[in-house]
Amino acid sequence: MTVADFVSLQIEYDCTSQVNFYKELSALQQSIGKTPLIIYKMTVLGCSLDQFQPLGNVLKVLKENDLNIVGFDMGTHSEKGALHYDKLINTLIESGIQPVVTLHHWDLPQALQDCGGWTNSSIVEAFREYADFCFSRFGDRVKGWNTFSSPWVVSHAGYGTGEHPPGIQDYVVASYQATHNMLKAHAEAWHVYNDKHRKTQRGKVPVYITGNGMPTEYSGDTLNDTSRINYIKSYINEALKAILVDGVDIQRFTVQSLMDGFEGPQGFSERFGLHHVNFDLPDRPRTPKQRLLIWIKEEYGDPEIYITDNGVATDPSRTTTDDTDRIFYYKTYIDEVLKAHNLDGVKVTKDNGFPLPEDERPLYGHFPKDFIWSTATASYQIEGGWRADGKGLSIWDKFSHTPLRVSNDDTGDIACDSYHKVEEDVAMLKELRVTHYRFSIAWSRVLPDGTNARVNQAGLDYYHRLVDALLAANIQPHITLYHWDLPQALQDVGGWENNTIVDRFREYADVIFSHLGPKVKYWITINEPYNIAMVGHGYGAAAPGISFRPGTLPYLVGHNLIKAHAEAWHLYHHKYRAAQGGLISITINSDWAEPRNPDKQEDIEAARRVVQFYIGWFAHPIFNGDYSNVMKTIIRDRSSAAGLTKSRLPEFTPEEIKRTKGTHDYFGFNHYTTVLAFPVDYGNLQHYDADRGAGTIADRAWLDSGSTWLKVSPFGFRRILNFIKQEYGNPPIIITENGVSERGPVDLNDVHRSHYYEKYINQVLKARLLDGVDIRGYTAWSLMDNLEWATGFSERFGLFYVNHSDPNLSRVARSSAAFYSSIISCNGFPDPASGPHACFNPQPEATSTPTGPPHPDSMVSFLGMDLSPREAEVGLYLTLSLLGLAVLGAGVSVSLWLTKATKTKASENIVELIM
Ligand code: BGC
Repeated sequence: MTVADFVSLQIEYDCTSQVNFYKELSALQQSIGKTPLIIYKMTVLGCSLDQFQPLGNVLKVLKENDLNIVGFDMGTHSEKGALHYDKLINTLIESGIQPVVTLHHWDLPQALQDCGGWTNSSIVEAFREYADFCFSRFGDRVKGWNTFSSPWVVSHAGYGTGEHPPGIQDYVVASYQATHNMLKAHAEAWHVYNDKHRKTQRGKVPVYITGNGMPTEYSGDTLNDTSRINYIKSYINEALKAILVDGVDIQRFTVQSLMDGFEGPQGFSERFGLHHVNFDLPDRPRTPKQRLLIWIKEEYGDPEIYITDNGVATDPSRTTTDDTDRIFYYKTYIDEVLKAHNLDGVKVTKDNGFPLPEDERPLYGHFPKDFIWSTATASYQIEGGWRADGKGLSIWDKFSHTPLRVSNDDTGDIACDSYHKVEEDVAMLKELRVTHYRFSIAWSRVLPDGTNARVNQAGLDYYHRLVDALLAANIQPHITLYHWDLPQALQDVGGWENNTIVDRFREYADVIFSHLGPKVKYWITINEPYNIAMVGHGYGAAAPGISFRPGTLPYLVGHNLIKAHAEAWHLYHHKYRAAQGGLISITINSDWAEPRNPDKQEDIEAARRVVQFYIGWFAHPIFNGDYSNVMKTIIRDRSSAAGLTKSRLPEFTPEEIKRTKGTHDYFGFNHYTTVLAFPVDYGNLQHYDADRGAGTIADRAWLDSGSTWLKVSPFGFRRILNFIKQEYGNPPIIITENGVSERGPVDLNDVHRSHYYEKYINQVLKARLLDGVDIRGYTAWSLMDNLEWATGFSERFGLFYVNHSDPNLSRVARSSAAFYSSIISCNGFPDPASGPHACFNPQPEATSTPTGPPHPDSMVSFLGMDLSPREAEVGLYLTLSLLGLAVLGAGVSVSLWLTKATKTKASENIVELIM
């Protein structure tokens, strides 16, 4: 049937005069024989709402009068309906929102369905008239038109499977007829707009193809879905022909589906997703199979893309106003769009995105003159020489030689061979222009069996050589006595669990102070007691690898660590300080925690607990005296609820409290990341995690790093620095570690690391200048790539790359080294607008030319431009968070509460324990 094969009519139905119009229509029908009628406009006049006769009834009457009505449209021709849309459109415009109107989104008037709906070809004309009406009525204000929303759904579900209204199950004929008519209807509407309205209204009536895709079998559907790509490619090609050859204005192409889902009878075996969903894991992680926006850009000549819908459904059984899942979803997707737009140059038409929050705006300014600029390493991570010159074994030697403890079975036997490379290491430090270098002493290198029964002079000499070389380079040594590598001989008698360790540690400290103390002004007793206690003795993911008493052992170990620290501090204070004049403290590490939902009191409290159980565990006794009430109360109550007669958290005697409190000359602080906390009830489980009663996740919009636990979240740094100020009486703080890792192929142009340092150090500046936090120094972790504990050499934190394929283990500066060096030379962040600043491009003072891969050109390639590192930094200021997004992509991994998103390096043990 063609348009000419029927008669179209306009009816005015007047409620006041009650015109019996169907009699007139019957007469008309008789005069034209069987020719079908389409009523394309029915205006209802003078009707009150209750008089209003539902259209279906009118049609029924008409049919009963032998009328061959095949099309009927009323819809917006009801003045009341039209007024409603007028009002909506006007309100939108007044609120600064552009209306984009879809003419048809699946809700076909039932009256038209009664005449066959989309299978009846006369509907094309009806749709044209309806569209014409809408364009005339609203087109002065509406500039974006969409003829159909998801016609595929109508054809497929409405006329094919019958899951949608009108519920027809006819894939053989009806589904195709409906598609055919919708395409024609669309084209008619487009033409009516183009011919009649476009000139005056200047809008668009694009086609939005809203569903096209192909499933693959589960077994064949990995992340590399080439067959899907080919399929979509050929379909988009057809759409392209429609644009170029037939002049159809196709503005949108929707691929079915966003992610793998439940495909009815096929279950999960049939997969349509652009994102792979892992249905084996409880949080159903999604992984992109391909980057769609970039692909469309490259494949189809850089079209403008207008993303017209994107969203996620939440599980109705769990739906409350607490829709964090949806917030994360939007953050992730908008981040991806931002990346496509800003970094890949995809023309996404709307300027979607987050305005830069206040606390992410850069602050220009300087640190005080004598600010400490440092970088750090630790003995086991870099030294190698594991059996050289009489060194005793440490718990890390044993741990790493135990199969499956360290990724790839990496060991620190050679590591960066720093034991033999004092000169090379100092050369890097000079290149950086740091004022201080933080390194640790391998206890068993100096005291092979852990006791002072025998001092290994050769081991001690290595540290003398290093300290002397540093001093000669005008770099102050900052020495950590204990960075996790306990002599194995001491572990054999109980290690940190045995309280005789307190004496052993004091004796060891005595040896070191007496030999090296005259040359050293900065000391750290113990690095990160939290990690020693919890990761080593709770989760068991670090040496000595104990995990079977997670509710008691970590607290016991923590207790002895605190006491050992206090004794070493007193020793220095009373015996050495007067002569040596140095400063000594402990280095405590902690994440910052924010509530997962800032409006939920339970989440706010969970975040507080996380912080108190982390930094507070050690800082409270040392700075305020005794454990915090939060820890004492919770652990005591949970212990007694489990039938224990005393708390699993050991108690300090009043004398011990006094002896511990105040054993600090500064607050040594390591910080890397922030977490989002929420309450978790672990029942009766006797475990540190259960005591803390919180789960943690990362915000999906935070940038990822090479470490699962580390998400780029600079704002938290300032917050935790302020927390230290408030909670511990504004002590002087030396940041003794901060940095970011990477995995995978080596790229010396590590813009992500420069980005991290820029943002984190800027937060330090804010804490110092705006909040008055007494920060005295900053230390970048790490000088060079090294053995990242249980993850081996696969996670790299270095400002310098260490080339393990070169037998010389040559060190090569990454671009972040020059970047960090320029921050040091500038002593902060001078305002680029008040430049030029000489410090932006410091001449490195390199004394050695490393062998191995070529030194990266001092120019940095940044978003397609060649810039000096400092210019790249200015670029960073301008592009702000977008640069980082380019490099790593948004952090999308949400850790389960079971797997605990803390810096546990490998937290599987807790899973085993709970399951
Ligand atoms: C440790 C370092 C470690 C770094 C990155 C800190 O916990 O002190 O030894 O390499 O974080 O994980």
